[in-house]
Amino acid sequence: MPTSSADATSSQPAFLQVRDLTAGYGRDPVISGITMSADRGEIACVVGPNGSGKSTFLKALLGEIRVMRGSVTLDGREVANLPAHTLARLGLGYVPQVHDVFDTLSVGENLRIGAYLLTGREAGERIATVVERFPTLKPLLRRSAHKLSGGERKLVAIGRVMMLQPAVYILDEPTSGLSPQLTDQLLQEHVAALAKSGAAILLVEQKAKAALEISDRGYLLVAGRMRMSAAASEMLADASVAEMFLGQGPDEGQGPDEGQGPDEAGTPQRAEIGGQ
Ligand SMILES: Nc1ncnc2c1ncn2[C@@H]1O[C@H](COP(=O)(O)OP(=O)(O)O)[C@@H](O)[C@H]1O
Ligand SMILES: [Mg+2]
Repeated sequence: MPTSSADATSSQPAFLQVRDLTAGYGRDPVISGITMSADRGEIACVVGPNGSGKSTFLKALLGEIRVMRGSVTLDGREVANLPAHTLARLGLGYVPQVHDVFDTLSVGENLRIGAYLLTGREAGERIATVVERFPTLKPLLRRSAHKLSGGERKLVAIGRVMMLQPAVYILDEPTSGLSPQLTDQLLQEHVAALAKSGAAILLVEQKAKAALEISDRGYLLVAGRMRMSAAASEMLADASVAEMFLGQGPDEGQGPDEGQGPDEAGTPQRAEIGGQ
């Protein structure tokens, strides 16, 4: 089981290793001293309330905003502040929270765009691989993306990134807007399968409980700082974390099984951390 001490003190860096990362948009940092890691075959999950700096952290990793201090290594190579297109070539695949699919294009065209580094033939083969993984998409390849359901759309967004077979998937709240049932399906079937295929997964989620349940490592980001890093199972079991961030506090009622089973239609995901 990974532990928090492995992040900070292990001499052997993980496949994706972030140390003491500080970044922001202007002169003042929004996130400070972030240390975390993800190995291949593993899901590392960053949870935290709305506005805590999760997306900012990802933008810093992806070369979209400047890293002020700290290091990011990918397979031992320093990659902090490299441009986004270089990071994509090095194997970082990014599924943003919004604007993840081109509405005016078909599903097949969206997938082909993901294959911009490949020849036409390779792209065709990769589409076949994506469709094998996500059979739901097979009959939809010619459908315009704006006609898709939320769940189908997210599969297209992930499929587009799969086209380059990245070593690391960076997923920014992939379940946002999905029902509790689709949330569980996306995480338990599809995100877990990406890790099983050997990729390292950095999963950012507000739906902390559902996300930690499929994760190996857990990180709790609050107000730009890492408040807790632990094995995901430990984080799920930690009563104070549960109360504050996993929707199991006195206000949330209902006990530990929430968000798991079929819920009444339209019931909000109770395991979700409240927005502000
Ligand atoms: N483009 C931006 N310019 C300046 N500040 C930003 C920008 N985007 C986000 N922020 C600020 O950074 C903080 C963290 O936001 P964000 O990383 O989006 O949080 P989260 O993803 O956890 O909801 C917030 O205070 C937000 O207002
Ligand atoms: Mg965000």
